[in-house]
Amino acid sequence: MPALGSLIDTRSPAFQANATRMAERLAEVRAIEARVVAASASQRDKFERRGQLLPRERVARLIDRGSEFLELSPLAGLGMHDDDGKNNVQGGGSICGIGLVAGKRVLITASDSAIKGGTIAPMGLKKALRAQALALENKLPLIALVESGGANLMYQAEIFVDGGRSFANQARLSAAGIPQVAVVHGASTAGGAYLPGLSDYVVLVRGRSSICLAGAPLVKAAIGEDASDEELGGAQMHAEVTGLGEYLAENDAHAIALTRELLDKLPWDAVVAEPSAPAPLFDAEELLGIVPADEREPYDVREVLARLVDGSDFLEFKALHAADTVCGHARIQGHAVGLIGNNGPIQPQGSTKAAQFIQACCQSGTPLVFLQNTTGYMVGRAAEQAGAIKHGSKMIQAVANAPVPKFTIVLGGSFGAGNYGMCGRGFDPRFIFAWPSARTAVMGGAQAAKVMDIVNRNKLQRLGLPANDEALAAMSDALRRRLDAESQALFGTARLWDDGIIDPRDTRRILGLCLSLAQEAQARGLHPNSFGVARL
Ligand code: COA
Repeated sequence: MPALGSLIDTRSPAFQANATRMAERLAEVRAIEARVVAASASQRDKFERRGQLLPRERVARLIDRGSEFLELSPLAGLGMHDDDGKNNVQGGGSICGIGLVAGKRVLITASDSAIKGGTIAPMGLKKALRAQALALENKLPLIALVESGGANLMYQAEIFVDGGRSFANQARLSAAGIPQVAVVHGASTAGGAYLPGLSDYVVLVRGRSSICLAGAPLVKAAIGEDASDEELGGAQMHAEVTGLGEYLAENDAHAIALTRELLDKLPWDAVVAEPSAPAPLFDAEELLGIVPADEREPYDVREVLARLVDGSDFLEFKALHAADTVCGHARIQGHAVGLIGNNGPIQPQGSTKAAQFIQACCQSGTPLVFLQNTTGYMVGRAAEQAGAIKHGSKMIQAVANAPVPKFTIVLGGSFGAGNYGMCGRGFDPRFIFAWPSARTAVMGGAQAAKVMDIVNRNKLQRLGLPANDEALAAMSDALRRRLDAESQALFGTARLWDDGIIDPRDTRRILGLCLSLAQEAQARGLHPNSFGVARL
């Protein structure tokens, strides 16, 4: 058995420094995530007064007791729009994740109605669209716990047109055979009223659900009619008169219980039992100190693999050829996978090796796992003349067209076309997670600053103007700092370049879950129809 060894010295100053830096970054991420949770929980009194559960309590009651909830994009929109990234963090205004409900794997989205009335801001919309894409690709029922003031009117121009896509997706998901359940805990107004309208099953909460195209003040203003909220869109009205709701609950907890009962009754295949798998030979704790804080410092991705794959058993593919691009077969929590990692920039031969490996994995139906940590494709005369573009394109083509499930973990650098060839977000991996050490940008800040310095100096020379070294240095410095800030993991996760920042020690468990989801989806037969379920 070709088990990997390890040369890591956990007592070395370099390892200790890396581990300390990683722990600091992780603590920063977790602290911000905790602030979103605290912001929502701070509204407890208001919710209790209204006899309601808080949004996170709804999710906790919905999932099977003691089961895991894989939360996705908890920091969507960080530092954008109303979210200031520091004291007022909003998590995209929703809670999204995958969990078990009545033994069935489901995708859950919940309006975080304790924050800005659960309204949808631009990154919250992106998060909602991603949730729908995940439900479709992984063939998961979608449960929406709704309580939302609809579009955040301050940013309507950024969400109105694209927001239509979420409704088109609902219709298409229904037609594809993906059941959607909306539990309406409170307001679901205006455009938001179509969310339950387009769901296959709607659970109403007596005295709380309010589903109407326009609330009482707008109706008075628009057509001069005096109408109460209950007459316009109350739970009882929809249960008895319109039939917009299938089930009428007495309160939030009852609504969740009804939803669990519904899921229990739906014939949907059970979760595949995790195959028993030998643990890696080395401690996952050591993952914290392996990746250097500076992506230009050499490291060996095999040290990560040794702590990730079952029994540290890794069959390396073409080990003696293009050693900068590491490819090989292994198992993660019992699932066969093909892994690709970087030991530095991707050389032309590394590209062809990876392209061939990807094709071989596609031939055998083996899911692919990309471990990104690269400054990109090798540049310079030698690399260009060796066909860097031609060979890199083969790798990019293979990644883009590989029909097998793909998963990406951004361990460190994800620069330049390395982001593309190593299956960044644009290449539609099923899931992509970042370590706190992830850095994603077209190039490093220092390189970008040097490029612009050369461009500016050439321009001044062409115009016959003197170069002001001080001004040019200030411009370079500003650009360097900007790119460095924009490449940080928190900046990327805010923009949904990944599905969340994970603790490196959880990588194996999370990949195992994602691989199980892919395996279950492959086996699951849907029952599509042409127009989705219409409420007749
Ligand atoms: N756009 C932007 N901000 C909104 C908003 C909207 N559509 N609806 C609510 N908010 C904000 C409020 O200004 C408030 O902000 P703050 O936290 O900075 O004070 C926050 O969300 C909570 O609103 P509040 O009314 O205090 O909470 P609530 O729980 O009592 O009521 C709603 C929530 C959603 C029922 C109520 O705010 C409402 O009816 N909003 C308008 C809904 C609407 O007509 N939307 C049409 C959009 S298509």
